[in-house]
Amino acid sequence: MHLFISFFFAIIVKIQGADWCYQSQVTCGGNCIGPDGWPTVAGACGGKAQSPINIVTRRTLPDERLTPFTFTGYQEAFHSLITNNGRTVQVDLPATAKVHGGDLAVPYKAIQLHLHLGKDGGPGSEHTIDGERYPMELHIVNIKKEYNSLDEALKDLAGVGVLGFFTSGFFYEQSGSSNKKYESIINALNSINMPSSNTTLSDVSLDMFIPSQSNMTSYFRYQGSLTTPPCEEAVVWTVFKNTIPLSRQQLDAFSRLQFADGKPMVGTYRPVQPLNGRPVYRSGSQVILVSTLPLSY
Ligand SMILES: *[C@@H]1O[C@H](CO)[C@@H](O)[C@H](O)[C@H]1NC(C)=O
Ligand SMILES: *[C@@H]1O[C@H](CO)[C@@H](O)[C@H](O)[C@H]1NC(C)=O
Ligand SMILES: [Zn+2]
Repeated sequence: MHLFISFFFAIIVKIQGADWCYQSQVTCGGNCIGPDGWPTVAGACGGKAQSPINIVTRRTLPDERLTPFTFTGYQEAFHSLITNNGRTVQVDLPATAKVHGGDLAVPYKAIQLHLHLGKDGGPGSEHTIDGERYPMELHIVNIKKEYNSLDEALKDLAGVGVLGFFTSGFFYEQSGSSNKKYESIINALNSINMPSSNTTLSDVSLDMFIPSQSNMTSYFRYQGSLTTPPCEEAVVWTVFKNTIPLSRQQLDAFSRLQFADGKPMVGTYRPVQPLNGRPVYRSGSQVILVSTLPLSY
């Protein structure tokens, strides 16, 4: 009898102790809790205003308050830690990098950026546009200027402002060049392919990782959540239409990263979540037509 009780107790402990993970890890036989089970890890993951979403462009609402952003400190060079934390590659950012405008209530300051990845340039973005999934999505995570930590910002429905950028792939052979601005981050990947490793990223600036200012005027806006547990619904989302071009070889380099279980860090996106009536706005009053489909390999 005692044996039975401790046996079941052990199972419960095991389930509660299991870590959350992406669907790609479940499919690979990982002993972990995939996206369907995230609400058991953190209650907010089962909420009604979750991210990411599929953005149906013809259902977006034009909003003239969604003016171009002003970025400050984005040209300043910084040195920082780049880490493989077992789930993503993350770069700590200096709080001197700020964004305002674009109908944000107050300036937001940067805390970190990280990536969501496909396999060898295959589908990897979290948000999808009219059902299309891009090879990679870059998130710049910001909090309202007055807060001192992400935890503090998560208590405010608009405490966190995430800027999301898609990358698109191109063939090196065709253009004869790669995206030079990404060389430093891609070189750093060689030192952090193993989980829980880090290195220093030197002499980079935030504007190297995003499109030019004139190419960031078209974007989508909606109210949502963190896309990983604890999934708090505290995020003002901005998803930019223009993509960051990376060559196929550059995209491949990201597939050398490993999860904590040693498997390739690929498919690190949460499935799209129901809108539940949330409006999705678009900048400007013109219809945004997505003119080019992302290349998939
Ligand atoms: C960076 O990695 C070293 C070991 O290589 C470790 O001692 C250190 O704690 C790590 N730093 C951070 C902030 O993760
Ligand atoms: C802006 O975007 C267009 C179309 O996506 C691209 O052709 C152009 O090179 C971009 N300009 C800059 C400066 O990035
Ligand atoms: Zn993210």
